[in-house]
Amino acid sequence: MPRPTAPVAGATAAAAATARPAPPGTEAPAQPPEQTSKQPPTAPPPSPSPGPAAGAARNEPHARYARLQAAASEMASSLARSEPETQPKAPAASSRELTSNPPAASQPAAGQPCQAPAPEARVGRVVSVSGAQAVALLESEAAEGQGQSCGLEIGKLVTMRTETSVVFGLVAGLSIPVPSQDPTQPEVRVVELELLGETQINERGRRLSFQRGITSFPSLGDSVFHATQEDLGIVFASQDANNVRVGSIHQDRRLPACVAVDDLLGKHFAMLGTTGSGKSCAVALILRQILQEHQNGHVVLLDPHNEYHRAFGEMAELIDPGTLELPFWLFNFEEFVEVVLGRKSSPDAIEASILNELIPIAKRQFLGDAEDHRYVTADTPVPYRFNYLIQLIDEIIGKLEKPEDLGPYMRLKARLKALQADSRFSFMFGSVALRDNMSQIISRIFRIPVQGRPITIIDLSGVPSEILNVVVSVLCRMTFDFAIWSDRALPILFVCEEAHRYAPQNPSLGFEPTKRAMSRIAKEGRKYGVSLCVITQRPSELDSDILSQCNTIFALRMSNSKDQEFVRSTLSESAEGLMYFLPLLRTAEAIAVGEGVPVPVRICFDELPREYRPLSGTAPFSHTWKVEKGDSAFIDAVVERWRRQQR
Ligand SMILES: Nc1ncnc2c1ncn2[C@@H]1O[C@H](COP(=O)(O)OP(=O)(O)OP(=O)(O)O)[C@@H](O)[C@H]1O
Ligand SMILES: [Mg+2]
Repeated sequence: MPRPTAPVAGATAAAAATARPAPPGTEAPAQPPEQTSKQPPTAPPPSPSPGPAAGAARNEPHARYARLQAAASEMASSLARSEPETQPKAPAASSRELTSNPPAASQPAAGQPCQAPAPEARVGRVVSVSGAQAVALLESEAAEGQGQSCGLEIGKLVTMRTETSVVFGLVAGLSIPVPSQDPTQPEVRVVELELLGETQINERGRRLSFQRGITSFPSLGDSVFHATQEDLGIVFASQDANNVRVGSIHQDRRLPACVAVDDLLGKHFAMLGTTGSGKSCAVALILRQILQEHQNGHVVLLDPHNEYHRAFGEMAELIDPGTLELPFWLFNFEEFVEVVLGRKSSPDAIEASILNELIPIAKRQFLGDAEDHRYVTADTPVPYRFNYLIQLIDEIIGKLEKPEDLGPYMRLKARLKALQADSRFSFMFGSVALRDNMSQIISRIFRIPVQGRPITIIDLSGVPSEILNVVVSVLCRMTFDFAIWSDRALPILFVCEEAHRYAPQNPSLGFEPTKRAMSRIAKEGRKYGVSLCVITQRPSELDSDILSQCNTIFALRMSNSKDQEFVRSTLSESAEGLMYFLPLLRTAEAIAVGEGVPVPVRICFDELPREYRPLSGTAPFSHTWKVEKGDSAFIDAVVERWRRQQR
């Protein structure tokens, strides 16, 4: 498809476009709903493509729609006599709980007779269709009013009518290929459209619910209309019980922005945006909405900055540094070596091979003679006595004849003892009596049974930074392994804040097993019922494989051009135009793309009540710097906490 030569898609154009008045179509008064999208059982399926007569009628859209409308109203009056009206469901009470916006002014129009669009809603005609793209020329008033707005802007939806459907297009580009020097002269104005989906019109002239994909394409010369509120209602205000409201649509704030829970969670989602753009609030909002409707959920949220503890109130089980328990024997060999020997060691180092040999011996000793030991390796999550491991090293030291061989054993023993004594590692080595409490640990982390708390918030702020990656690796791996060994019985959502730290694109950063564990969830989790939510301020630093597996993306404000470019490259072409908005989005606004939302759309998240907001507010410099807070008791308390490593 030829691209227009003077595109105005982009930040400047978008900024200019947002200042324009709303298109007339979106301000149309709401039509009262007559019927839900449910098709009567006797209705035959709609024909997927127009019949031969359709071609002749293509250049007469108004005549065609007049006919359709006449048929539809006839059908409507006969149905009104024979069928009871089905009222659409009111939005769930919990969906409104967090909502500060006015309620939706209209309900979905799926199931209503297909109305012919008002003539003033017409903006132009189709002049090119190729695959999922179309180009329209603006006509009549939209084009005549030189220097005036056509009411279209990037990201808005328009409709095109075919014989059997209403096709929805997203404005992806606006341009005047040959601008005139004289503003009074007519100019050719071009609109690039991405075709997103359609609502089919059944044989009784009623509109069915919105579907992605196109079965009946618009043809050359077909009219293009502003999407009316009724059109938008069909797309966005779906009555599906699996949908939860998270905000409103930017194009028409009266319409709710909903996410489809199964589609959102089933195939992973990402929350991307610069610092302070509203990612944590959005995640808290989405999870609250989902968990209010699905009280037996299983969510594990990694909280590296201890900011989420108040976001979920009674719904959350909090695991803080004082109550975190991840015994050393739950770590696999690679993870344990990373903790003990650190980044610089290689798995081939002498110390690592000593551990590889001794750990299975220690595990077998714990299991006793009665057990079959064949399955035990250095990776098996079986308890063993840490002191017994040190004792085994001592025994070898006692038997060594050459003093020069002592080095690795002495170093290893010293390191193990240092870890055991370090209070920061008490979550690994703190338990005095060794017991096999793996079931209890799993039960607590994955909320089985739920007991009214479907989400576990793991506060990682107390975990020493040098092993934070290893701890995340253990949690990621445990989540996936649990899903495998539980035979997919319980779908789990794993939410990872600051994901670029654990799964960086740069292979020389981070800890390879963590990235591998997260990648595995991203690639195979869907089949095992493990869903991933990645949150990051630096999408370009996150492993691109992981991001590309996220089927729903919420892109909030993003100022870094590398990040913007990266996000654009991972998205389908249909959302590309919308991505030019990224630097201009306000806090708590996002471009939502993918399977969790009906079409790529700019949404405004609902306001999260102050008491549920993650503790991530910007430091109040101007306020705090007005009062003296420098007494010695304050500093003493800080020093004490610092030394004890207790916040
Ligand atoms: N949906 C919302 N409702 C109410 N306030 C919001 C919302 N979204 C953002 N905010 C406001 O913006 C501030 C920053 O939001 P948030 O902490 O979610 O940003 P962030 O993108 O997670 O930042 P960071 O990357 O630094 O963690 C919040 O403290 C809150 O005041
Ligand atoms: Mg945040």
